[in-house]
Amino acid sequence: MNAIAVNAIAIDGPAASGKSTVGFLVGQRLDFLFFDTGVMYRAVAWAILDRGIESEDREAVGRIAEQLSIGVNAPSDGETDGRQATIQVGELDVTWSIRAPEVDSIVPVVAANSRVRKALSRKQRLIGLEHGSGVAGKAGVVMVGRDIGTVVLPEAPVKIYLEAPLEERARRRFLELTERKKEADQAAVLDDMRLRDRIDSERADAPLRPAEDAFLVQTHGLSVLEVVDQILSLAAKRLGVGPAKADDSDLPLDASLGNDVE
Ligand code: DC
Repeated sequence: MNAIAVNAIAIDGPAASGKSTVGFLVGQRLDFLFFDTGVMYRAVAWAILDRGIESEDREAVGRIAEQLSIGVNAPSDGETDGRQATIQVGELDVTWSIRAPEVDSIVPVVAANSRVRKALSRKQRLIGLEHGSGVAGKAGVVMVGRDIGTVVLPEAPVKIYLEAPLEERARRRFLELTERKKEADQAAVLDDMRLRDRIDSERADAPLRPAEDAFLVQTHGLSVLEVVDQILSLAAKRLGVGPAKADDSDLPLDASLGNDVE
């Protein structure tokens, strides 16, 4: 079997474990493409709400996932509202609408649909292989999700699984919602996250779990940059890559994952 050389960092973990915040910064430091696969599941969930399709209608939801045009692009200069990427469904900018609570509540059901998973993980794998092999202008790829190390890019030389206690993750999500001026009830956010964890971990197809060779990072009590540094040192060992640029992020050095987006 031919091994494919892929400069890839897979980051998995439950909701609000810090994957996107940390993955985005690792991507910036290494000049790797950062790709958050959760936005694709969210775009499908948004589209079925938009079209009035029931999330339990497996056939119809699967068809949408196969046909939907989902765009994920770097934000343009004018888009300074804190987005990591601009997400489009067709021509429509859905970057923030895919974060609505109505999407949150149905997206685990959408993500448990095998037809949806097949369609999306195939596209994700192609993106991962293309960018990980350096043919698409980036030196590598940082891909985040639930099944990157187990299904989408199992050959990634660096696999990270981020963990944090449920209560801590729910607190992060609550802070994130209130910062975006969304109404939120702390107890409801906790209950909702517990339920989403359960659906993501217990589904038959690609359940949330660390790959056998994943490096587990407990983020509770660590700053964002401490987690980023752990991943960078692993990347240096396994991929032989180091930061392409000095740390030019606006984060204070001790910023905690308490204020992250995911
Ligand atoms: O990371 P997130 O909260 O944006 O993910 C949204 C949903 O998609 C969540 O239910 C987990 C699911 N998901 C998945 O099953 N596999 C992925 N690779 C990414 C996300």
